[in-house]
Amino acid sequence: MHKSKLLVAAFVIAGGLGSPAYAEGSPEEGRKLAAEHCAQCHDIEPGGAFKEFPPSFASIAVFRSREQIYARVVFPPTHSGMPEIAFYNFSEDETADLISYIVSLEESL
Ligand code: HEC
Repeated sequence: MHKSKLLVAAFVIAGGLGSPAYAEGSPEEGRKLAAEHCAQCHDIEPGGAFKEFPPSFASIAVFRSREQIYARVVFPPTHSGMPEIAFYNFSEDETADLISYIVSLEESL
């Protein structure tokens, strides 16, 4: 196959699958979701005080990569105090928004 055709094919396949949830999302939308669903346990504010159980979102942003946060949210360990994200029925986009919000707090600590 010609190189340019290959590129087009890769683009179409990637587009068709949608962006993975650890891709760039909207931190503003993620903040709203976090306020509604996560704030009763986590400190979700910029500069949020570090608490070990559960850690603040700002400290999670400092210590974890985007991929790690994604993995941790989507596949919490068994017997974790953390509800499974599947429980909330977030879409891939909403999950990306949430993770982007957490990542955006990295510079706030
Ligand atoms: C019922 C309380 C509760 C709610 C609600 C909750 N969490 Fe958690 N979360 C925890 C606890 C407790 C931990 C730490 C223990 C653990 O890792 O299992 C945790 C851990 C985490 C971690 C991993 C931290 C690390 O070790 O890197 C992430 C990421 C996270 N939560 C994100 C979220 C998001 C996003 C939401 C909202 C959709 C949310 N949590 C809602 C209790 C909660």
